Amino acid sequence: MYGAEKPSGDSERTAFRRAEKKYKLYYDDRSLKSSRKKKQAKPVDVSDVIDFKAIAAAHERGGELPVGVAAAPCGFRRPMFCLEGRPGFYFIPGALSLEEQCQWMRESLLSFPQPPNRTNHNAIYGPLQDLFAAAKERKVLVKDESDGDHPTWKFVDEAEVPLRGNGCTSCPASALLRKLRWSTLGLQFDWSQRNYDVSLPHNKIPDALCQLAKRLATPAMPQGEEFRPEAAIVNYFASGDTLGGHLDDMEADWSKPIVSMSLGCKAIFLLGGKTRQDDPIAMFLRSGDVLLMAGEARECFHGVPRIFTDEDSAEITPLELHFSNQDDCFLQEYLRSSRININIRQVF
Ligand code: OGA
Ligand code: MN
Repeated sequence: MYGAEKPSGDSERTAFRRAEKKYKLYYDDRSLKSSRKKKQAKPVDVSDVIDFKAIAAAHERGGELPVGVAAAPCGFRRPMFCLEGRPGFYFIPGALSLEEQCQWMRESLLSFPQPPNRTNHNAIYGPLQDLFAAAKERKVLVKDESDGDHPTWKFVDEAEVPLRGNGCTSCPASALLRKLRWSTLGLQFDWSQRNYDVSLPHNKIPDALCQLAKRLATPAMPQGEEFRPEAAIVNYFASGDTLGGHLDDMEADWSKPIVSMSLGCKAIFLLGGKTRQDDPIAMFLRSGDVLLMAGEARECFHGVPRIFTDEDSAEITPLELHFSNQDDCFLQEYLRSSRININIRQVF
């Protein structure tokens, strides 16, 4: 999984790669050359991107569904949609309420990156406690060399950062928060081996997330069986970040769905076929949308080539208001330029 194609000449020729390039963020050259102008994103043609929110709204008014799209009741706030030619793929627009989006966004930043859960920062700094709080309090991560054999990293107040030239290495917590790319819950996924490492210490997936995932997974589960959430990967995207085309193939039973929740800024999701040569289907993913991928859809390449952080396209205003009511400017600020994806898996 996550085996993004190497950018060799050949890989550019796959249909999946072409679609990634089509939707990826590019900046307008003129805005890059001028030091005064704000960097402007180049306009992107989204006329081929499926908009399930609009489809759901038209469907509720009794309108017809586009060719290749089918609707089914699923017991959530909105109907669920399936795609012809992609059995096992389900899209539930607006499955999560604003309160739920708020709750999981908060947990994704405050509690999911906490040890023993690992993040992309582990490999360099070891386990980091309270990254979000440290960023909010403008702390700085510094290397503590008092135990010469085992240097560790700790957060200190700005004023306590040793002056440069003392061999001190440091990094502002806010920069580390910006560079947070993933955290893993439950059974820990080992990115270097690209497999689950059951020997790594871990906590169970929090009960509330477990219950939610079980409920969301129901429409994609074989009759009479219950989904067992054993691991989750949380992806954090900043403007310009992408998730390359990949398969999630390290779980034993592909008849079980991956439950994938979107939070924050709007994104484009590409659902390819079983090879990278198949033309992918592009669709918008908004905060609160849920995807299920089970059965044959588990064999389909997929990825996220684009997130939209500009005010008009991000579609996060209600969520932003929620955080301003809760007096949480720091979370609100993070949300304005970010997207979070929580995907929950049954491993065995
Ligand atoms: C993944 C994944 C999709 C998303 O983490 O495996 O496919 O919407 N995420 O971010
Ligand atoms: Mn995936």
